[in-house]
Amino acid sequence: MRQSLVAGNWKMHGSQGMARELVPALVGALRGVEAEIVVCPPFPFLPLASDLLKGSSIALGAQDLHTAESGACTGDVSGPMLRDVGCTWVIVGHSERRAGHDEQDVLVADKALAALRAGLRPIVCVGETARQRESGQALRVVAGQFAALLARLGPGFAESLTLAYEPVWAIGTGVTASPEQAQEMHHRLRAQAESHAQGLGARMRLLYGGSVKAANAAELFGMPDIDGGLIGSASLDAGEFVAICRAAEGMSWNK
Ligand code: 13P
Repeated sequence: MRQSLVAGNWKMHGSQGMARELVPALVGALRGVEAEIVVCPPFPFLPLASDLLKGSSIALGAQDLHTAESGACTGDVSGPMLRDVGCTWVIVGHSERRAGHDEQDVLVADKALAALRAGLRPIVCVGETARQRESGQALRVVAGQFAALLARLGPGFAESLTLAYEPVWAIGTGVTASPEQAQEMHHRLRAQAESHAQGLGARMRLLYGGSVKAANAAELFGMPDIDGGLIGSASLDAGEFVAICRAAEGMSWNK
């Protein structure tokens, strides 16, 4: 059985003051929630968020990491450093990093591997652009991204992977993939995981991301192959994020 999971990606938003308001509000409202919840603030706020999350069941994640454990890599942050400040999760290969920092499939896979070696659970993002979807390439592109990851990781590591399907055209646009579009992609990804290693398809958690709001979360999370969400702007609003987490609650029981 797969437990539902909701991760909030704050991206490059927030402040210490905002974290001091938002995190305790989430801790209070999500006590006892039957879903796994992760918040992923920017690097400077991780220690503060870690303190604010102490004693709660909400986990802490980062938004990126370097492939090396340490070294002459100015401006970068390693997996062991993230563990040291209380992270247990990390987002890898977000489309904003693929596009803005030219991260290719091989680097994304190496980052996922670095995360796993550091004892972090990576949420690896895949997704097609609007142009790729319009030209009928969506399934091929996303399958290619996932294949590159699986090839690099090997079956043992693939077990610890969470995948997030985030169509680029749905991120920050208010245009969500329809539940049917998202389900179709998730179903394909699950089949691909299964053909990589027997049983992996049934075990791997697949999240949907891209303009998930309180108003559309239940419909998306209700699809058979969607195990939760990776939430951007709605994760900055306590009421919205709590409602999204509540929509994921209990979904695992029927999948
Ligand atoms: P939005 O929810 O703001 O569309 O962002 C999605 C996302 O990129 C999460 O990683």
